[in-house]
Formats: sequence, structure tokens, C-alpha cells
Amino acid sequence: MNKTWWKEAVAYQIYPRSFYDSNADGVGDLPGIIQKLDYIQSIGVNLIWIGPFYKSPMDDNGYDVSDFYDVDPLFGTLDDAKTLIREAHARGIKILLDLVLNHTSDEHPWFIESRSSRTSPKRDYYIWRDGKVDAKGHRHPPTNWGSFFEGSAWNYDEISGQYYMKIFSDKMPDLNWESATLRQDMFKMARWWLDQGVDGFRVDAIAHLARDLSFTDSTLPLNRHHVAPDWGKFSNRPELFGYLREFHDEVLRHYDCMTVGEVGGGASVEAGVKYAGYDSQIFNMVFNFDTCWKNNIFANDNLKDEDIVIDVVDMKATFNRWIQGMKDKGWMPHYWLNHDHPRVMSQYGDPKHHHRESGALLGTILLTLPGTPFIYNGEEIGMTNVDYTSVDDFTDIWVKNYVKEASKHLTMDQILSHLRRTSRNNARTPMQWSDALYAGFSTAKPHQKNVGNYPTINVAAQDKDPDSILNAYRALIQLRRHSDLSEVLIYGDFKLMFPEHPHVFAYHRTLGKKHVMVVTNLSAQPNQVVLPTAYRKVRYSNVHSAPTTKALHLQPYEALILEV
Ligand code: GLC
Repeated sequence: MNKTWWKEAVAYQIYPRSFYDSNADGVGDLPGIIQKLDYIQSIGVNLIWIGPFYKSPMDDNGYDVSDFYDVDPLFGTLDDAKTLIREAHARGIKILLDLVLNHTSDEHPWFIESRSSRTSPKRDYYIWRDGKVDAKGHRHPPTNWGSFFEGSAWNYDEISGQYYMKIFSDKMPDLNWESATLRQDMFKMARWWLDQGVDGFRVDAIAHLARDLSFTDSTLPLNRHHVAPDWGKFSNRPELFGYLREFHDEVLRHYDCMTVGEVGGGASVEAGVKYAGYDSQIFNMVFNFDTCWKNNIFANDNLKDEDIVIDVVDMKATFNRWIQGMKDKGWMPHYWLNHDHPRVMSQYGDPKHHHRESGALLGTILLTLPGTPFIYNGEEIGMTNVDYTSVDDFTDIWVKNYVKEASKHLTMDQILSHLRRTSRNNARTPMQWSDALYAGFSTAKPHQKNVGNYPTINVAAQDKDPDSILNAYRALIQLRRHSDLSEVLIYGDFKLMFPEHPHVFAYHRTLGKKHVMVVTNLSAQPNQVVLPTAYRKVRYSNVHSAPTTKALHLQPYEALILEV
């Protein structure tokens, strides 16, 4: 297998708004990230993905871009971005920019020009269609397609009297990738950032650039917003791969850069190979969402805490399906959460009774799977979901849309419990640096409320505690990147052990003569297993256990790396 720097990297995702506020306005910023680079380096990671910091009206926290070539004043200046790139590189850390190709803000000059008249030269930069008019003369969207942020995939524009397509919010019109001029403009912008020194891209919402051009209604049942949630109308469509190959040809292949596309829900392993196969000439790897929801929190929005179950068997099977499906064909990233998901500590860990052990267990799995691991800021100290007591504490656009609808059939308490479990706001709370006011994130009131547990869960406390989750991540990253086990952990084969065990997540990693067994107990109960092979050495344990036989009595959330 070809060895490359991005296969050997350990990545760290930064959500800039909530990472560190250097200028006391309650919002994290680029100078804040620069100030924390030594900390980032101390974790051992050598790649950071930074969420969007372009100029933006912030309808969707920066994914709605109004100028790709500038930094939003909330986050700093273009000079700050250049300093950040330089300072990160000086520490051996590469940078991935979040590249948004699917849409812009409705305040982007292209859209302002596009909507100004039906004959505008930029009209075809976006997707415009006439609406339908029913027998009573009422106007309706051109199709019944739903959007990801609830409601229709179309919005009516009074100025030019047509609908524009928008699969996210009303303020995020979709770009029309059929336009060759638009494509060239997007390629130019990506090249410009690579020329500024960024090392690659996380490419946002990439599965959607092509749509069903027949623009016919979906036959799927309509949801409660009277639209069809038929993602197939604008996801993973054949024309998309042509656009992306052109992107590779015109931009990516001219740089030693790394790309990870977000293909999201519904992408099959076969599609994964199409996007990120070694022969695909598109991306180096793609994120799927399949391992993020291996519990039933979305089964309905009125669950009780005691009804929540994690399906470890399905979780293992899903990792295995992707890993085996991509084996020898392409490379994969792995992650437990990003800025769109709840905190993994609250999803799969046990923050109440086994915070430390379960946090280190999750790190053990992430850092010993084949593929490039992505840690999400705060995961390395076991940050949790929010404890908010009012729906107003949730600031996300998706939440706002959801609350409007859900309040028709649920009580506010039910809505709150559901949001505390599922909302993207859970991952977007201020980073917990210390037990100081506002968790040391800012001296001003943060843009989003802190989680109440920061006096105990914070970087400063964990930094000096040898048994902390933070120090577990450091040790595990050291093992993965700089030890005699690095090769086997990065490039070795993967084979599941005990696939049917309801709680034990265990596997072999093998390469040549090297053989490692990773054994973890994803449960608050002890569990016993008998390993198929003897081992020589315990290379990592999150509970200081030093077993010697094949029969293991695993403690709650115990995690072991055993060298055979
Ligand atoms: C991606 C981003 C998400 C954003 C959406 C629209 O899914 O991860 O945060 O809302 O794209 O840009």
C-alpha cells in the first residue's frame, strides 16, 4: 500500500466559534486558535480541520458564505488566517479548510446579481424555476421536494418572481454546477486558498451538487411539512462525479493536498469507493454518518432516558462493513462526532458513572481503527451534551425550525429532553479550558451557554491528572504515530472479534509479524471473554489492569491494547 502523510495523520476538528475567544466578544476567533496551537500540538495531532470562517451573515454559523476570499470580522482578518497557517506549519500541523461548494449565502454578490432579473448574467449560477399554480390560482413550489432543514427545497423570490432551490436554509441558495462558468469560479477560489498554504479541504455537503434535472415530484409519502424527504433527488447522482473529477483535474491534482468529502447519510460503501477509491480521481476519503447513530435517540421525539439503548452489535457491523468494503480500494476517515452531532460522551459513553473510563475507551477505539482518525474539539476531555433548561438556549437554525413544528404535538419539557439528546448545539458549546468563569473560553458572555459541568470537566484539570481522558488521548496518539506499533495501527488489516457480543467491541490489527488485539467493554457492567490468542504485553489499559491470560474479566468501560 502507498504510504502518504494523510494516512498517517491524526486530525483534530476545530469549531472556531466555540474554541477560544481572544477579543472578549463571546465568540471564538482565529487569533484564539493561534493562541491555543501549543495545546493542540501537545495532544499530538498533526492536522486540523477548521470550520468555515469566511465572511458570512451567519444564518448557519458560517456555512452560508457571502465572500469566499475574506474572513468574517467575527473571526478576525485575512492576515490572521495567514498567521494561523504559518504558525500551525511551524509546529508541524497541517490545515484543512472547510470548503462549501453546494451553496452560498443569499447575501453573496453572485446571488444578489442572480436574483436581480431573469436575464442577469449570473442567473444560471443558481437554480431558478417557475412555481406551479393550482386550479384556485394558488402558487406552489416547482416540486414537492423537502429540504434538510425542514420545509420545502424551494423558496419564492419576490424580486424575480421565480423559486430558487435551497436544500438547507432559505438564506442558502444552491449553486448550479451545470454552469461551466460557475464551476470555474469555484475552482479558482479553491486554488486561491491552496496558494495561501492550506493543506487541503474538508468538502462540505458534497453529495448534493447534482440534482434530478427532470424536476418531477417525488412519489415518497409527504411528511408533516407536506414535502417529500426524498434525498435521492439531489444526492449521489451520476452527474456529480463528472463535476468532482473536473474539480480534481483542475485543482486538486496540482497540489500535495488532502481532501475529505462529506457524503453524509445514505451513501453506500459502493458510493464511498466511487468518491474515494484509489482510482476514483476525486477525494482521498469521505465521511459517512453511519456509525453516529447506533442508539435509538431518533426513534421518536418523546423517549425517556431509560429507554435509550446502544446497539453495539450493529455499531461493530457498520464499522466492519465500511472497513472491509474500502479495504485495498480506498482510504477512510473515522470519527465519533463532528459539529453536527451530539457529544459522543453522552451518546455512547457514561458521563455520570464512568466518565474517565468511557472517554478513554472511545479514544482507544478511534485511534486504533484503520483510517485517519478525526478528534472533535472537546472530545479529548470528554465534554458532554448540554444541560439547558430552556429551548431558547439552543441557537441552531435547525432547532428553531424543529421547535416551531414540534410544539404543535409535544410539551416544552419533551422538546427539551429531545434536544438535549439530539441537537447539534450539544457539540457547539464553548470549549472547557478551565474552571474560571465561562470555562475560560472568554471573559464575556459566550454566544452559546456553557455546559454546567465545566468546573470539573476542563483542560486545565485534566492536563495535570495522569489518568485523565486528555492524557489517555495523548498516550494513544503517541502509540499510533510514534511507536513500534504505528505501522500496524495505521496500515494493518482489521478483523473483528466476537461480532455478536452485545457489549465487547474487539478486533485484531495485523501487519507482517506485528499483531495487536484491541479489546473494549462498551458497558457499565463487567463482561468476560476468552481471547483466541495469547499475548505478550499490555500496551495500553485505561483502568491499570495487567491481565496475563486469555480469559479476560473486563471492568466497566475497560479498554486494552494487547501486543501478541
Ligand atoms: C454540512 C455541515 C453543516 C451545514 C450543512 C450546510 O452538513 O456540516 O453544519 O449546516 O452542511 O452547509
